[in-house]
Amino acid sequence: MSGRLIVFEGVEGCGKTTQLQRSHQWLKTLSLPAIVTREPGGTDLGTALRQLLLKVDTQPIAHATELLLYAADRAQHVEEVLKPELANGTIILCDRYVDSTVAYQGYGRGLSQSLIAQLNFIATGGLASDITIWLDIDVATSLARKQHQSTSDRIEQEKIEFHRRVQQGYTELAQNHPNRIVRVDASRSEAEVQGTIQQILRQRFPEIRAKCRS
Ligand code: TMP
Repeated sequence: MSGRLIVFEGVEGCGKTTQLQRSHQWLKTLSLPAIVTREPGGTDLGTALRQLLLKVDTQPIAHATELLLYAADRAQHVEEVLKPELANGTIILCDRYVDSTVAYQGYGRGLSQSLIAQLNFIATGGLASDITIWLDIDVATSLARKQHQSTSDRIEQEKIEFHRRVQQGYTELAQNHPNRIVRVDASRSEAEVQGTIQQILRQRFPEIRAKCRS
């Protein structure tokens, strides 16, 4: 049996990592084979690339370099983790995937969308998510959430205009891919958001639905 690739996306502070962990716990209570992974940083190589990409005390990173490093992380992640786990029948909960590059490097940095599409194809070989949960939240609210945390990384430190462009990117992506990308209102309580995510996953995947009935 082949597994499922479930991706969580959204701007900084949208709560995707918390929701992804809660979804993982839920799938485990249903005795489903599920793992959590992320981009960047889902492999050993990716962990090193993540440090290079997100640390703040660094020389400025050129936009093209940033794009290529995210693509390199993804290429390794697809080969080393996503493809073998899907072949094993695992349900993969992945924190960010190709839409992050479209939103951040495309809309945020203003890099060419056709170049990004080509790089995403090279990195993934065309492997698409079965569903992408987009946690939609107002940028000012999400950045305020982040400010309560200790330190911010290189990308979190970008100006609010950058994050607004990223948000616009997710909005347009969701309009252009209404079947693959499902918008979830992330301004609500953690429990309400999780309830909606579980409902969406039950509806979308028969194997999850079947476990909820048994
Ligand atoms: P996060 O996993 O903690 O959200 O941090 C990853 C950061 O990297 C976040 O600011 C979004 C950014 N990012 C990109 O700019 N492009 C990408 O392709 C990916 C996967 C992440």
